[in-house]
Amino acid sequence: MKIAVINFSGNVGKSVISQHLLQPRMNDAKIIAVESINSDGTNNETIKGKEFADIMESISEMDDVIVDIGASNVEDFMKKMKLFSGSQDDFDYFIVPTINKPKQLTDTQSTINELHELDIDPECIKVVFNMVDIDDNMKRVFADLIDDCDHMATINTKAIIYENELFTRLKSESKSIAELINDDTDYKTQIQATDNRITRRELSHKLGTKRLAIGVSKQLDNTFKVLFGKKA
Ligand SMILES: Nc1ncnc2c1ncn2[C@@H]1O[C@H](COP(=O)(O)OP(=O)(O)OP(=O)(O)O)[C@@H](O)[C@H]1O
Ligand SMILES: [Mg+2]
Repeated sequence: MKIAVINFSGNVGKSVISQHLLQPRMNDAKIIAVESINSDGTNNETIKGKEFADIMESISEMDDVIVDIGASNVEDFMKKMKLFSGSQDDFDYFIVPTINKPKQLTDTQSTINELHELDIDPECIKVVFNMVDIDDNMKRVFADLIDDCDHMATINTKAIIYENELFTRLKSESKSIAELINDDTDYKTQIQATDNRITRRELSHKLGTKRLAIGVSKQLDNTFKVLFGKKA
């Protein structure tokens, strides 16, 4: 599959979704991060035509690929898709993450509108609700988005990623979720074997992270299945 992860808003979880939801369930697909693409190291936030063409060319060479478009480049990426007419068809899906915050919800609607204007099939635009609170009534919390965008995108209120501390912990870990799960260190025995409080605390933190990873991984398997109708 070839997937673009896109939203005009920053901090909705585009990178988290690319790395932790999609990549491990797409044969370890390459992630192309469109952050501030600039060859000379300056902070130029526009994507040049050639750079866009290069991205699209490398996409065509791969079976599975994820393009994670940083918020500052989304506007430009949309413009280039208009300019290079038909390039949007090289993606199987556009994943639009959203969160329950007013600005991000407005930006989500604008993102879906623009994708719709590019004639992208509603089946190919899929919303993922991120940082969801377990107590949220999804249909009520996201009622406006669902009402306004349901005809332009696939909006399934079961396509959820719950707010979870694991994602914060992953930033200071060099391990993936799978590596955390497959870590077969016997932390319980190690905790019992030491009287050092600091070591005990570190070990129980690691045990906690592993347990969070197991829970989140199961949730993400389910989210992937809801989105694409198949098991990872
Ligand atoms: N489900 C979640 N629970 C808790 N924290 C999360 C969750 N999803 C994302 N985060 C955190 O929110 C922050 C923003 O996520 P991320 O970097 O993926 O956003 P982004 O959309 O890629 O932003 P940008 O457009 O700036 O690149 C990160 O610190 C990430 O760890
Ligand atoms: Mg990002």
